[in-house]
Parts: sequence; C-alpha cells; structure tokens
Amino acid sequence: MNIRRRLLALVATWPLANLLSSVAHAQTASSGAKLKATPQDALGPYYPPRWTGEVDADLLTLGGKNYLQGVPLALTGRVLSVDGGALAGATVEIWQTDATGKYRHPDDDGEGPAQRGFQGFGRMTTQGDGQYRFRTIKPVLYSGRPPHVHFKVVAPGYRELVTQLYFAGENTERGNWFGFSKERDRLTVVPVTVNDGNRSGLSARFDLVLERV
Ligand SMILES: [Fe+2]
Repeated sequence: MNIRRRLLALVATWPLANLLSSVAHAQTASSGAKLKATPQDALGPYYPPRWTGEVDADLLTLGGKNYLQGVPLALTGRVLSVDGGALAGATVEIWQTDATGKYRHPDDDGEGPAQRGFQGFGRMTTQGDGQYRFRTIKPVLYSGRPPHVHFKVVAPGYRELVTQLYFAGENTERGNWFGFSKERDRLTVVPVTVNDGNRSGLSARFDLVLERV
C-alpha cells in the first residue's frame, strides 16, 4: 500500500473522539449563549445543478473507490440557532474544487472531477446534536480565488444560509467585488494537521449559526 492510500485509510478510520479533541475551534460556539449568525457569502457560479447519484457526506469515495489526490480534510461542526441550540433536521450542502481546481459543474469541468474520482459536492442532514461531518480534500486556488468550500444550509423556520469557508493564511482576497462577504475573518478557520506516525491529514471545525426567519 503506498503512502497516499495508507493516509486515506487512516483518515477514514480516525475515531471521532480523537478528531473532535484535535480540531481548531475558530468558529466554535458555546451552547446557551447569544450567537451572531454566520455571515452570508456569494453563491458563486458552480452550485450543483443536479443532486442525483452519489451525493453523500464522503466526497473522498465515489463508486467505492478512494480519491487519492489532494490533502484529506475532515470538515466538522454544528448547525446552531442564534440562541445557541443545536438544529436537528438541517440540510447541509457543500461543493468545492477537486485537487486540480475544477468544479463538478457543466460550466467548469463538467463530470471531469467525478471521472477522476472526486465526488465534488455532498449533502447530509443533521441529527439531534446538530453535528455535520464531511470527508473531503482541502480545495485549491482557482482563477485567483483563495481555497474555499461553499456551504448551503436549509432548516425549517430559519433563514437559508449560503456562505463560504476560507483557510487562515490563504484568505488573501479583499474587497466586496462579486458580492463576496466583508466578514472574511468570521469565515476563516485554522485547520489542524493531524500527524501521528504515518497519519497525516487536516481537520477543521466550522459551526454554522442560523437566524430565525
Ligand atoms: Fe467557488
């Protein structure tokens, strides 16, 4: 087994408790406190037009095969109300580039990422603790934009949240052109490198706070 396969296999088997104890808490919220809603950010041109086929929370496996490019990223967090309560039944969607900077979208590289084994977008629904968790890669720069993960969160009774997640040290884009958020610092996480012998990968925690309609 080569190193990439071994790393991916290990990332897949990280115990959740270990993962949660090692993640950065750049956007962590404390339960019960009055929270600020997560800033909205531009939807961008590559929202998936069809949510069919394999659209689960594991973007690293497609058709039973592992995606071996890029840096594995465990992306976790909770969907919360501004009053601090966890939201169950919230639908969380993400979409992002593959390791070559291409989206799985007809206007970018079509099904190219999927043909290369990257799922490109994923969706899951939160349970009672409001937790979401995706296995993906760290996205890469494209067309001058810093690496980012797109999010769309829908929960009954709450304003739909469309936003983007950025990475500390790479959030170099400034200004408000194309409607990008001015509150980048609140959308930026510090990913943690998980390294234990042969284990290597990134984890990041990003809570999503929704305001009531
Ligand atoms: Fe984008």
